[in-house]
Amino acid sequence: MSEPTAPPGAEPDRAPQAGAGCVDAGPPVVIRYADPTDAGAMLEIFNREVAQTISSWEWFALSEADWRDWVDEHTKDDHVLLVAEAGGRVVGFAGYGTFRTKAGYVSTAEDSVFLDESFRGHGVGKRLLARLLDEARARQIHVMVAAITSENLVSIGLHQTLGFEQVGYLPQVGHKFGRWLDLVLLQITLDNRPTP
Ligand SMILES: CC(C)(COP(=O)(O)OP(=O)(O)OC[C@H]1O[C@@H](n2cnc3c(N)ncnc32)[C@H](O)[C@@H]1OP(=O)(O)O)[C@@H](O)C(=O)NCCC(=O)NCCS
Repeated sequence: MSEPTAPPGAEPDRAPQAGAGCVDAGPPVVIRYADPTDAGAMLEIFNREVAQTISSWEWFALSEADWRDWVDEHTKDDHVLLVAEAGGRVVGFAGYGTFRTKAGYVSTAEDSVFLDESFRGHGVGKRLLARLLDEARARQIHVMVAAITSENLVSIGLHQTLGFEQVGYLPQVGHKFGRWLDLVLLQITLDNRPTP
């Protein structure tokens, strides 16, 4: 399978930046649980990142069916999927799902957080992730893991500001747009219970 080349006019390998959004002057941003009607808006946000940046290591846009599977995975059992809504429009989402499938990993989850470009850099990502951690803690998730492209300094900063610590660095474990990508692993322990 050959990977995609840069889309015309895009700067595909840039790390995502916090854009100059209009969130301050716009309608209030509300964080709520995702419902099935949010799927299309979430997929649009996600697929834009797939096409243009290295924040996702997917090479090709996910189909609606792929996305339904992703949403199912992030809403089954005690998993949680949140959206940020502004003026009736979904402008971002955050969720956690399975970290690894073997039974012993059940108290650990892995998060994802994505915002519409125009809503970045105004604290919405931080609100989404903080709420997600509260939701996970309430469901006895013991450890949350984030796996982030090393170049994605905004997402690494977001996670660190909420207490995540870097615990791993995996050089060149992926590639996209014709170059190797390094993966940073961060984690936060959500409770101090001595036994599971
Ligand atoms: C990553 C993302 C979710 C962050 O959300 P955001 O709303 O833009 O970030 P916030 O405004 O809430 O900022 C939260 C933290 O991110 C970091 N941050 C924000 N903008 C930054 C910038 N330009 N440079 C470095 N760090 C930055 C800071 O640590 C900030 O914490 P602070 O306010 O305590 O200083 C958002 O930018 C996004 O969707 N990016 C594209 C998709 C993506 O990379 N998703 C993560 C995949 S792992």
